[in-house]
Amino acid sequence: MAKLTEPQAKAHQQACDLLAKDVLTEDEKIFVLQNWQESASHINTVAGAFFTPFDLARDFAIETFAGRVIDLCAGIGMLSFAVKSKLAWESGSRLELTCVEINPDYVAAGRKILPEANWIQASVFDVIDMGLGSFDLAISNPPFGRISRPEGKRAPRYTGADFEFHVIDIAAHLASYGVFLLPQMSSGFRYSGSQEYRRDTSGKAFDFQQQTGIYLGPNCGIDTALYRDAWRGVSPVCEIVCCEFDTQETIEPEILIAPPAPVPAAPATRRSIGVPAQLNLFGSAA
Ligand SMILES: C[S@@+](CC[C@H](N)C(=O)[O-])C[C@H]1O[C@@H](n2cnc3c(N)ncnc32)[C@H](O)[C@@H]1O
Repeated sequence: MAKLTEPQAKAHQQACDLLAKDVLTEDEKIFVLQNWQESASHINTVAGAFFTPFDLARDFAIETFAGRVIDLCAGIGMLSFAVKSKLAWESGSRLELTCVEINPDYVAAGRKILPEANWIQASVFDVIDMGLGSFDLAISNPPFGRISRPEGKRAPRYTGADFEFHVIDIAAHLASYGVFLLPQMSSGFRYSGSQEYRRDTSGKAFDFQQQTGIYLGPNCGIDTALYRDAWRGVSPVCEIVCCEFDTQETIEPEILIAPPAPVPAAPATRRSIGVPAQLNLFGSAA
């Protein structure tokens, strides 16, 4: 359990007091999201439970859209709340949220933040078998790296040790599209902190794409390095990664193996970036 500064402890206590209410106003929900400390009563390093900074979650939401949305490893609903807030400005958008989180304390807090969501207290590794139906969008800021998984559990295709790749593989079995907050070295590209877009041509993200056929795509040009100091207890360099799970069989094979386009200053749209020559998403040699 982390030692909080005096102002942090005071704000956290205020957030706890708000969570004791039956119904919270929108401002109170935002106060809780910004001040409730995930490490106050849990060793959050063990579960990789570092909540997304509030403003980064709002940037993340730019890449999301309405429909049936599942938030894997939802914490207290930071990403889902940002998606809901963004869509509140878009008339006629229908949002049906499902939040999956293993920690019962986080689920209890999340139910106060997003009472309209379907909260499921469970491991993401059990979600595929729950008969939840298909989703338009999966979102996640999963635990990063070699975080321990429930005994014997893994995603359908990915066989490695990094938690985030298991979550993406699971998401691919649930949803048509995915938006993920990942450590930069697991994203398949580098943009944040450098303002120059480069695809990895080796490494664990490259191997994940080869193994699963899931292309880890760029976002619209969000530099997450701006929020490096806004995390609590860590300061990771991340990327927002967009995956079109449904289109793998409809992309022309020659596009998949074409040499990459000249590197643009920033990814303009999620479809405008060429796939590296070495990467053939159908799994055969390029
Ligand atoms: C990095 S935090 C992110 C939380 C939230 N998505 C956010 O953006 O603030 C990862 C979350 O995954 C949860 N978690 C860890 N293992 C899990 C599992 N097997 N199934 C579901 N959730 C899990 C942790 O409790 C934690 O809340």
